Amino acid sequence: MTQRVIQIDSPCFIERESLQTPTDIANRFPKRQPLALEIGCGLGHFVTELAAANPQTNYLAIDIYNKGCLKTCRKLEALELDNVLVMRIEARYLLSHYIEKQSLSAVYINCPDPWPKKRHRSRRLVGSNFLQSLLHYLQPEADFFFSTDFFNYAEQVAAILPETTGYHNCLPTNWVTELPGYPVSKYMQRFLDLGQPIYFMHYRRDKELQLEKLPEPDIRPGFRVRWERAGNE
Ligand SMILES: C[S@@+](CC[C@H](N)C(=O)[O-])C[C@H]1O[C@@H](n2cnc3c(N)ncnc32)[C@H](O)[C@@H]1O
Repeated sequence: MTQRVIQIDSPCFIERESLQTPTDIANRFPKRQPLALEIGCGLGHFVTELAAANPQTNYLAIDIYNKGCLKTCRKLEALELDNVLVMRIEARYLLSHYIEKQSLSAVYINCPDPWPKKRHRSRRLVGSNFLQSLLHYLQPEADFFFSTDFFNYAEQVAAILPETTGYHNCLPTNWVTELPGYPVSKYMQRFLDLGQPIYFMHYRRDKELQLEKLPEPDIRPGFRVRWERAGNE
């Protein structure tokens, strides 16, 4: 997939090329506070609502979709939220290059691309490998939220999470279809309006997890994006 890069001039936007080290991201926020990550923020509905309700947390919202990043920035500017920054970057690339180990207080993934065709399912972002690798970037007791409108994706992730050493379930069941207080994203709303359920999961990284006993993060490129301006990613 090749995407033409559009210029995003916004104080809420971080150009990937402007970052040197993982700590740079934390330094870009006006206040030092816990850092949470939303992967695939789309048009920014979810992160703006979440960040407005939690000013004591910094949020990094990422997407590979140009217009999504731009519209998220415009929403943040309009609301004058200073605890969210946006990056146009692929999730696995971000983690492996720009996120410090054990630095994230929460990760949110809502309605990720479901890749419904069987032959494309290996392109899904969230799988065993990704979940294991993600543990390295989560603080002890950091939250991991996953939601999907696609039943087969819910089944897949709900089967992997309990088998992955290092996470524990915060819900009484594998998933719930209502999560009070959790903002509704654009895609969630689309499916809810059609009368279809959203499957929510909420896990947490174990406090006592010994990362040195886990394999090093093995973040494979998976389905990649090529930026026309910036070269390969
Ligand atoms: C189906 S949309 C959901 C958007 C939003 N989370 C919502 O619920 O309304 C999935 C989003 O994830 C983004 N995305 C897909 N794969 C990604 C990846 N590997 N890294 C970052 N963003 C990704 C897409 O560009 C798209 O905006």
